[in-house]
Amino acid sequence: MVAIIGGTGVYELPGAEERERTIPTPYGDASVTEVRLPDGQSLVFAARHGKGHAVPPHRLPARALLWGLKEIGVSAILATSAVGSVREEIPPGTLALLGDFMDFTKARSTTFHDGPGVVHQNVSDAYCPTLRAALRRSAAAQGIPLHPEDVVYVCTEGPRFETPAEIRAYRMLGGDVVGMTQVPEAVLAAELGICYAAVALVTNLAAGVQGARPSHEEVLELMAQQGRTLSRLLLGTLPDLGEDYRCSHHAQPEAMS
Ligand code: HPA
Repeated sequence: MVAIIGGTGVYELPGAEERERTIPTPYGDASVTEVRLPDGQSLVFAARHGKGHAVPPHRLPARALLWGLKEIGVSAILATSAVGSVREEIPPGTLALLGDFMDFTKARSTTFHDGPGVVHQNVSDAYCPTLRAALRRSAAAQGIPLHPEDVVYVCTEGPRFETPAEIRAYRMLGGDVVGMTQVPEAVLAAELGICYAAVALVTNLAAGVQGARPSHEEVLELMAQQGRTLSRLLLGTLPDLGEDYRCSHHAQPEAMS
């Protein structure tokens, strides 16, 4: 089964028949929506921040959500992510696939492996190459422009935006876009062996880039303009993946005793 995690600005899927479902997990309840599309295909949808954008990024119940998705048989996740651009050559409105991340979060539970026992998850392929290829095929088939290279996502703690000095530092380190939610989401998916890919929509230039001063209104405005294109891009991959998607690319966790 495939799940879509909708980030800021993506709270439902167009034209879908929906049924709400609560999944109890050791980390609290996960709220998801079972969806049947007009073409008969089934999938699971989850609004990352809850319906109505109620939960701030540093308080997301990511462990409950990912555990719940695994529990109901999800084998692949396509996620959306609103991001600021660290580089003026990646302007607002750009859609880009995430290729890697850097973790600058500070105070979150970022793992299921809290002991006893030690597990070091390999996250060299946090963004599944097979899912990324399917997303590129969907974009090409629908004529949706996608940034030619996969981008590096810098995850900050939030909920504040970054300072111009922080953004300069992230640029020097090789970051391309900045957001607040990929860690731990992508990490937890890897720990559970769920294939994961994310499409970023650049909603603004990050602080200090060409004098930008990001605001939540700016983010929402761009999402309102482009959210449907983003949904089309994700939904367009589903026939390619099939309902019972299986992918064997994942490295297994390396356990140490
Ligand atoms: N910074 C962090 N997160 C974001 C931004 C940003 O500029 N835009 C959208 N999400």
